[in-house]
Amino acid sequence: MNVLILGGNGMLGPWVVKALGDRHRLRITDIGEPPATTHEWRQIDVSSLDDVVDAAEGMDAIVNLSVLRPHRRVAFDVNTRGNYNMMVAAVTHGIQRVINTGPHFQLAGPGYQDWDFDLNPDMPPQPGTRLYAHTKALGQEIDRVFTTRHDIYLQTLLFYHLYDPGDVTHGPGGGGRESVGNDLVPYSIAWPDAGEAIRCAVELPLERLPGRAETYMVFTDMPHGKFSNRKARQQLGWQPRYHLEQLWNK
Ligand SMILES: NC(=O)c1ccc[n+]([C@@H]2O[C@H](COP(=O)([O-])OP(=O)(O)OC[C@H]3O[C@@H](n4cnc5c(N)ncnc54)[C@H](O)[C@@H]3O)[C@@H](O)[C@H]2O)c1
Repeated sequence: MNVLILGGNGMLGPWVVKALGDRHRLRITDIGEPPATTHEWRQIDVSSLDDVVDAAEGMDAIVNLSVLRPHRRVAFDVNTRGNYNMMVAAVTHGIQRVINTGPHFQLAGPGYQDWDFDLNPDMPPQPGTRLYAHTKALGQEIDRVFTTRHDIYLQTLLFYHLYDPGDVTHGPGGGGRESVGNDLVPYSIAWPDAGEAIRCAVELPLERLPGRAETYMVFTDMPHGKFSNRKARQQLGWQPRYHLEQLWNK
């Protein structure tokens, strides 16, 4: 499959490239400088409709990893308008498969903070008004509306706390970033598992999707039960390889 990656230079980008790189032809894009890569690379700005439409030519799928967190205007340009541009590009080139990403709080925001069990990706979104969450949630809603009018299947994968599994194998004083015996956010995942989840979304036969706009909470199996990764496991066929038990199991 020919896969366009938007925002591919960030923290998640290399893990997605690693998961997809041997199996698909990638066109990695970002506003930043070219990374060291053997894949096709283009410098584009997702807030430019022309850039995104041009970059999507000849592609079978788009994966959106672009994000801008702090700046009020640019956050809308990237997180909201970038999604609009991506969907116009999908319509323009007849691309059916669009994969978007974001933080879990663009769905499960402050309105859910007192809930303690089985928060799931099909509950009504409550992103709150924090800039990052708000702009990302608006982008997701724009994507969803496009799927009601066009032959496009949207999969939105939500993440929160990401770990390098190499860091958590060290005990206290062992040089690792994380120390054993501390609890961790009940929505945590290792970077390689996050990349794999995107691969599952890229490769999932579209006819297996129950709807045109599906959202997944993507984190490893954890004892808290506060959030549910059931849908990601069942629909995407994704399984976490890193359980991060060292961080919560004494
Ligand atoms: N890293 C985390 O802890 C985390 C947690 C939860 C969710 N996420 C989500 O995962 C996805 C990837 O995040 P990340 O951690 O890789 O973020 P990142 O900030 O490391 O990378 C984002 C990339 O987007 C690029 N970008 C910014 N503005 C752009 C523009 N105008 N045009 C093109 N590219 C632009 C940046 O240059 C950067 O390379 C995002 O959707 C983010 O919301 C990340």
